[in-house]
Amino acid sequence: MNSDITGQVETLIRRMTLAQKIGQMVQTERMAITPEEVKEWHIGSVLSGGGSCPGDNQLQEWVMMNDAYWAASVETDEGHLPIPIIYGVDAIHGNNNVTGATIFPHNIGLGAANDPDLLERVARVSAREILAAGVDWTFAPTLAVARNSQWGRTYESYSEDPAIVCAYAGRFVSGLQGDLGTDSVVSCVKHWVGDGGTTDGIDQGETTLSEDELERLHIAPYYPAIDAGALTVMVSFNSWNGDKCHGHKYLVNYVLKERMQFDGFVISDWDGIDYLSESYYDAVAMGVNAGIDMFMVSEHWQPFIKHLSHHVVSGTVPMERIDDAVRRILRVKYAFGLFDKPRPAERYWSNHTSFGSNEHREVAREAVRKSLVLLKNEDSILPLAKDRKILVAGKNADNTGHQCGGFSIAWQGTSGNEFVVGGTSIWEGIKQVAPHAELSADGSGKEADPHQHDVAIVVIGETPYAEGMGDIRTGEDVIVQAGSQINGLLKVLEPYGDTMILADLHPEDLEVIKNITSKGIPVITLLISGRPLVINRELDASSAFVAAWLPGSEGQGVADVLFGDEDFSGKLSFSWPKDPDDRNNVGDEGYDPLFPYGFGLAY
Ligand code: GLC
Repeated sequence: MNSDITGQVETLIRRMTLAQKIGQMVQTERMAITPEEVKEWHIGSVLSGGGSCPGDNQLQEWVMMNDAYWAASVETDEGHLPIPIIYGVDAIHGNNNVTGATIFPHNIGLGAANDPDLLERVARVSAREILAAGVDWTFAPTLAVARNSQWGRTYESYSEDPAIVCAYAGRFVSGLQGDLGTDSVVSCVKHWVGDGGTTDGIDQGETTLSEDELERLHIAPYYPAIDAGALTVMVSFNSWNGDKCHGHKYLVNYVLKERMQFDGFVISDWDGIDYLSESYYDAVAMGVNAGIDMFMVSEHWQPFIKHLSHHVVSGTVPMERIDDAVRRILRVKYAFGLFDKPRPAERYWSNHTSFGSNEHREVAREAVRKSLVLLKNEDSILPLAKDRKILVAGKNADNTGHQCGGFSIAWQGTSGNEFVVGGTSIWEGIKQVAPHAELSADGSGKEADPHQHDVAIVVIGETPYAEGMGDIRTGEDVIVQAGSQINGLLKVLEPYGDTMILADLHPEDLEVIKNITSKGIPVITLLISGRPLVINRELDASSAFVAAWLPGSEGQGVADVLFGDEDFSGKLSFSWPKDPDDRNNVGDEGYDPLFPYGFGLAY
């Protein structure tokens, strides 16, 4: 940070009361606070949790909401200093909350594209669509290195290999933050640290690793991110060797802030300190003293303020710690130019016509093409000629909600085509180029007829999920085991399933394939999923097989490659398991996957 900013920060902090300082350390959810309360309590930030949208979730309603919070926060009177709030969202694959946004492939697909230049362009377009809503800050990029695909957040990870995540981290931060000017938003690299390394892939579970391994696998991507100027870091729910990251003074205050010289601010995850102790009063001091600067408190922000005020007065939280937190928050707000920006309603990108534009969607369409991985292509059945008589079937063929996955309009994602406005389903993309293509009425493929169809495309896989609700947990004992290893509380959400075998997880998929192959019609299978799954039976029954991950709103990118307008270029950034017990990653002893890291066929 430059000396001007330091001077501005010192001038302002000297004028602040304890209440104003503690207010800056609070981020709360839009449904828990009014603009008037933002002013009254000097709140530093407001957020939208996944799917938390104003009114009818229209762009202009987002701008109006942000404008109202902004205006309240910069009002000046004898009891209130004008310090603009910073509004945060989970725009993790485009501004995925807002109706009509361009929704990019989730990170697992971008990892398969292995194209850092593309990543920076994706980030730049995402920044403009975030700014269009009057929002300044996104909780992205996720730098998780997912080591066990049972984890419900595997799709938020670029790769099991830190090398790809390292290659992307700085580029995505640069794409979002740029020159910290009009076209920029504040990034938030997350989750610090070891989120992708938990035992059995349990979300928010226990990461048991030596410090060297933690450094090699999970800390490594934060170096390029910090070098690129990442302004905020989010702490992770998981524990490291039994101690929760949210209370980990060594990891936060020492490793991140002192050893790695991170000089932005650190934010907790959603009520993340609540799991440190049965006593919320104690948890507040544990989180602040560990080095967290801003606290994402979804509802109980007044008790947080009361408890922290008491801790400062009683000395259990030193004033120096409060001042360090507030200086960091103010430094970021000054560095981002927040004090000099016009109000959200008057900014250049607010309500901009480029939001969800074809120009932006073409970048997403390119990302879709590059994310696809061809795993099998028997007798070179692909690319398909556009005049073929094609039956398109499967539950994910005509469902933009399913192809977007979690954190899309709603936290847990949506189903059907009405919520993701703009864009194309995979079927719509096929229909646009193949005049003789037909969509199976109920997706079952039962109408397959060798006299009418000479090939089928079947789109199968997972339905949307997010966070722990995407976990594959092979038994309740794993939760007891994880909980018994940590000092603190484990938040457990209902898992997605109890097996990595697709034929057991979604038996309807193999059934569709067989409804068609039993008529002598070859099947090209596309898997929509947030992770590799055990697909041996579906693979054997298919003539060709494509991993399509979670492609987002631009399904037509899939047709571009299936019909040969573009070639496959995607390579697996995650090892593909041969059986349900295979959790090996590239480089592990006994590594023997069905398809290895880096695998991908082409025409
Ligand atoms: C969630 C996630 C985090 C997200 C935050 C705000 O629990 O862990 O990635 O940014 O809450 O929605």
